[in-house]
Amino acid sequence: MAVILGIESSCDETSASVCINGKVINNEIASQDIHTQYGGVVPELASREHQRNIVPVVDHVINNAGIEVNELNAIAYTRGPGLLGALLIGSSFAKSMAASLNIPLIPIHHMKAHVLAHFIDDPRPDFPFICLTVSGGHTQILKVKNATDMVILGQTQDDAVGEAFDKAAKLLGLPYPGGPMIDKLALEGDSDKFLFAKSEMPALDYSFSGIKTSILYFLRKELKQDNDFIEKNKHDLAASIQKTLISMLMTKLVNAARQEGIRQIAIAGGVSANSGLRNTLKDEAEKNGWEIFIPDFQYCTDNAGMIAMSGHLLFEQRMFGKLTDSPLPRMPF
Ligand code: KG4
Ligand code: ZN
Repeated sequence: MAVILGIESSCDETSASVCINGKVINNEIASQDIHTQYGGVVPELASREHQRNIVPVVDHVINNAGIEVNELNAIAYTRGPGLLGALLIGSSFAKSMAASLNIPLIPIHHMKAHVLAHFIDDPRPDFPFICLTVSGGHTQILKVKNATDMVILGQTQDDAVGEAFDKAAKLLGLPYPGGPMIDKLALEGDSDKFLFAKSEMPALDYSFSGIKTSILYFLRKELKQDNDFIEKNKHDLAASIQKTLISMLMTKLVNAARQEGIRQIAIAGGVSANSGLRNTLKDEAEKNGWEIFIPDFQYCTDNAGMIAMSGHLLFEQRMFGKLTDSPLPRMPF
């Protein structure tokens, strides 16, 4: 019997969740719209919003789960990686609550939690499986040996793929975060209309910084001939950019699966909400005989459900932290 409270505050979502005996009961997320007007997350504003939201969000999930605070067995929180100020709010709150209730704290690695989101709902993968973790800060191909042991087979050497989506969207004049907007526009676009150069990296690594430059130069050239080029072609541009990024992701994922001889393939992280990526993964699964695992939308982007679930898995192994643990903005894997 374990009742775990999960708290996530690594970037711009304040989220809390209760997990009872391995079942995630709820997952409340307070998103911060304030950053849209600045074209990206402003760390100081994110901290202030977390401070404002954390008490009501935690209060609400506990009431909604139909439990009393003193029924909690542990508190899991995101220790890193993320924005220092944002992590400080969640971790200080978790520590003070755990100290006052005299229950253990479970520090969680945000990127590992994205992977463990696959254990929230059926079907759950068996170990070992391959997970392509794609977010605004990371792009990694992992061999997931168990809930704590994950080996990085390949990763980006510069921008994350979510960053590439967001930067490309900015060039198209779309508001932040642009990834979901590209996804939406791409639904009605011709993905073969425009070709963008893909950066080649050795082995299973990625590079996504070059594509932004290639889109920028292409747009500059076209805008010289026609001022309305972007507006007239926004669907085709979004579809073509999305196809390029997905095909870069897939090439290495296919190679990783072959190299490891593993056919259970999962995707995780904010970009796994992308409909093009989800569909392409299904096509690849048919071609390669994969069994694939795609999280429910609410567990793709940042959420505390994945933190509470990670807490549940680590609670079983008694992987508790200390009150003196400080947040780790660059928490090692
Ligand atoms: O995992 P996440 O919520 O936060 C981080 O830990 O970074 O990922 C956020 C990233 C952003 O870059 C956002 O644009 C991207 O995920 N994203 C998407 C979609 N939904 C979120 N990118 C493409 N298509 C989407 N539907
Ligand atoms: Zn994330």
